[in-house]
Amino acid sequence: MTTDTESIWRALLDARSLDWIDRSSWCRSTPAGRVTLFGSGTWQADFTLDEEARTLLDSLAPLATAARLVVGQLGQSLDGRIATESGHSHYINGPVALKHLHRLRALVDAVVIGANTACADCPQLTVRRVTGPNPVRVVIDPRARVPARGPLFDADGDPPPVLHVIGPEASPEPAPGHVERLRLATGERGFSPAAVLAALKERGLHRILVEGGAETISRFIHAEALDRLHLLIAPLIIGSGRNGLDLPVIERLDEARRPRMRSFSLDGELLVDVDLRLSQG
Ligand SMILES: NC(=O)c1ccc[n+]([C@@H]2O[C@H](COP(=O)([O-])OP(=O)(O)OC[C@H]3O[C@@H](n4cnc5c(N)ncnc54)[C@H](OP(=O)(O)O)[C@@H]3O)[C@@H](O)[C@H]2O)c1
Repeated sequence: MTTDTESIWRALLDARSLDWIDRSSWCRSTPAGRVTLFGSGTWQADFTLDEEARTLLDSLAPLATAARLVVGQLGQSLDGRIATESGHSHYINGPVALKHLHRLRALVDAVVIGANTACADCPQLTVRRVTGPNPVRVVIDPRARVPARGPLFDADGDPPPVLHVIGPEASPEPAPGHVERLRLATGERGFSPAAVLAALKERGLHRILVEGGAETISRFIHAEALDRLHLLIAPLIIGSGRNGLDLPVIERLDEARRPRMRSFSLDGELLVDVDLRLSQG
């Protein structure tokens, strides 16, 4: 008997809420049989899984079982662009890849974006395409130039918290109660990603998704503050526009990073799971 994807997703969500600091494995019964998740991010099942369920476990067990983790995501075209020149990016990816993005949000404690993305996309950053909890929403905005309106600042209903990370001199507009202003010191290159992560850790936020854009993710990679990167590659050639990554110039290819990666098919798109902590042997 095979199992349905929803049972596997529920198991991943339940695993996410366990304390994995001292735990090495956890077992869950599904209608089809037992699945065991390991602290190493691997899994085992005593029954046959279909491809969709295997992809879910292979790509997301490392997140669901991590005590601490920083993962980035970029939805990009075949030519490595994440938006047009004017900043239009809705949507590069199709529904299955977007569902994957919402699963990433549901598995983390906080989702981080840069000021340009907050201004260009006015995102909600909530979990809507799958079941699961909403993360704390974090906007990195040293000059407090993101207007205090739109979905992130909307106080209707019971909005998930927003952490607005601003510089020492910034004068933000007044905001509703679910928005906390967090002032951090800025260095020559803005906030150090390590300082942002330390401030999140102080608030009990240990599993972090850096959702974009390019500059924010590039700064995390450059500071070696990203553990994994999920690239969602769509069959699309934009040919111009914003590159997904923008790192300092290197002269020779032997200076390039060569991380380990695995790839998965997502309904005609490609998910590339890049493990930035492990180099190719
Ligand atoms: N396809 C996708 O997956 C995806 C995902 C997200 C966004 N996008 C697109 O990407 C575009 C925006 O990306 P982007 O690269 O231009 O900008 P971004 O990364 O969204 O925002 C960059 C800005 O955020 C602030 N910032 C980020 N990290 C900082 C740090 N460590 N210290 C200080 N400030 C920091 C800075 O603001 P200041 O300039 O005020 O200093 C910086 O200029 C939009 O068009 C959006 O639609 C695409």
